[in-house]
Amino acid sequence: METLVIDKSNFKIEVLSDLEPLSHCAASFFVSASKNSIATKKRFAVAISGGSTPRRLYTLLGSETYRDQVDWRHVHFFWADERCVPKDHEESNFRMAFDTLLSRVSIPDGNIHRIRGEEDPEKSARDYEENIKKFFGMSGIPMFDLVILGMGEDGHTASLFPGSKLLKETIRLAVPVYLPKPTWNRITLTFPILNNATQILFLVAGRLKASILSEILGDREKKKRFPAGLINPVHGYMTWLIDQEAAERLRGLKS
Ligand code: 6PG
Repeated sequence: METLVIDKSNFKIEVLSDLEPLSHCAASFFVSASKNSIATKKRFAVAISGGSTPRRLYTLLGSETYRDQVDWRHVHFFWADERCVPKDHEESNFRMAFDTLLSRVSIPDGNIHRIRGEEDPEKSARDYEENIKKFFGMSGIPMFDLVILGMGEDGHTASLFPGSKLLKETIRLAVPVYLPKPTWNRITLTFPILNNATQILFLVAGRLKASILSEILGDREKKKRFPAGLINPVHGYMTWLIDQEAAERLRGLKS
């Protein structure tokens, strides 16, 4: 395993050979972050993503190898984004997390704060924002203990897509994303709350992501063109776990 430490103290990249060791590394990261947060705050509030890359992580966390290492009574699950589909739909990010993890661990139902993708997107986004504010019960921007993000080949993250006016959102924490058919509309968290997290964990794998990753991690100016490049923790720490294929164009970065 090769660790490339780029610049500021709040940023790290780890390159692992492929998705399996990457997912185990992410599972250990989740376990230790949960222990630290529960020890200090008696809760661990996590916002997770959908897509294919984190599926193995969720499966591992729900497995015998890891599930007993986490005190699920104090873990609260939120979502970085959701597709506007019913919760049992195959495209549902909630369903993916439920099938691979939530249905396999003893977590209280009240700790699962899903985005109601089956409802009107605007209403669902507002309800979700209210739910988040009520949970954190504080003024100002709530602070997740951990946000798990992926990245698309176009540099999108959560459901923040290149060129979207939502990239400039500074007030709302959750917004609807209307996409051209047949793509499902989405609901997504916005930069103010994503960047306010204590820990941000990016999981990126596969050769198809290599080009965009080299722009986002290799060029301070170019990265600003891509939503994933605009994820910058305000006061937290960001870790990129990437596999060898996704890292293949990152050569030349100072270790
Ligand atoms: C979603 C995700 C999205 C995802 C990227 C990467 O709802 O699809 O939240 O932002 O992280 O599209 O997806 P893959 O992991 O499948 O490449």
